[in-house]
Amino acid sequence: MEENNNGATSGNLWADFWSHDHPIYANARHATVHYRRIAEDLNALLKDRVRPTVLDWGCGDAFGAPAIAPSCGELLLYDAVGAVQKRIAARFAGEKGIRVLDDEAWRSLPAGSVDVIVMNSVAQYLGQAELGAVLDGFRKRLRQDGVAYLADIIPPDAGMLPDIASLLATGARHGFFFAACLGLARTWFSRYRQIRTQAGFSTYSERGIRELAGKHGFSAERLPANVGFNQQRMAFRLRPA
Ligand SMILES: C[S@@+](CC[C@H](N)C(=O)[O-])C[C@H]1O[C@@H](n2cnc3c(N)ncnc32)[C@H](O)[C@@H]1O
Repeated sequence: MEENNNGATSGNLWADFWSHDHPIYANARHATVHYRRIAEDLNALLKDRVRPTVLDWGCGDAFGAPAIAPSCGELLLYDAVGAVQKRIAARFAGEKGIRVLDDEAWRSLPAGSVDVIVMNSVAQYLGQAELGAVLDGFRKRLRQDGVAYLADIIPPDAGMLPDIASLLATGARHGFFFAACLGLARTWFSRYRQIRTQAGFSTYSERGIRELAGKHGFSAERLPANVGFNQQRMAFRLRPA
């Protein structure tokens, strides 16, 4: 198999990072704008399906979920990090059309019960074997005519510059440019940079994703655009082979 992995052989360090407060969103406006864009892009991907059961795997704070739920029969939210799970369970308790899964509920999700799975901006934090195991889980739970979207996949040798450029451009366009500059400074001195330097991100070429998907029972095609603002990164549609 071609490349991947300039370091993230295991996602433990990253999972630990995401279980604490982190400086990833420059301010509340950044988080709002980020999740609104994700919701718009996901709604566009869902538009041809009638009341699909959708699983957002690695959903994070999922602030866009109420805007996605109307496109779904049911929207399932799952994040493997316990602190995130607790936050979203509290946030969406009783919200119509949204069900937050804990680890046990994810594990016991019936085979062939999901139409669409979305995993946005998570693959970089998993080692390749971990991503393979996650894909096996997706393959089992997807209906035969279902699809999985792997988005925000970082190409090899991307480095930090495209991320910085994308954040500043988004900040300038959406009214949080100075907060974005401060956020970058905070990130520079945070554990994020340490971990990114130490553990790295898992990166994939187009061919790398196709080969990995193939090993786990999927065919993969690259989409013309990524989900979210950072168009240096890639999105793929996976179908059960
Ligand atoms: C950048 S956020 C993406 C959140 C959301 N999908 C979005 O698009 O905004 C990364 C998510 O991956 C999850 N994550 C990080 N490391 C992980 C790991 N090793 N295993 C599983 N999930 C992990 C974190 O809890 C976090 O919610």
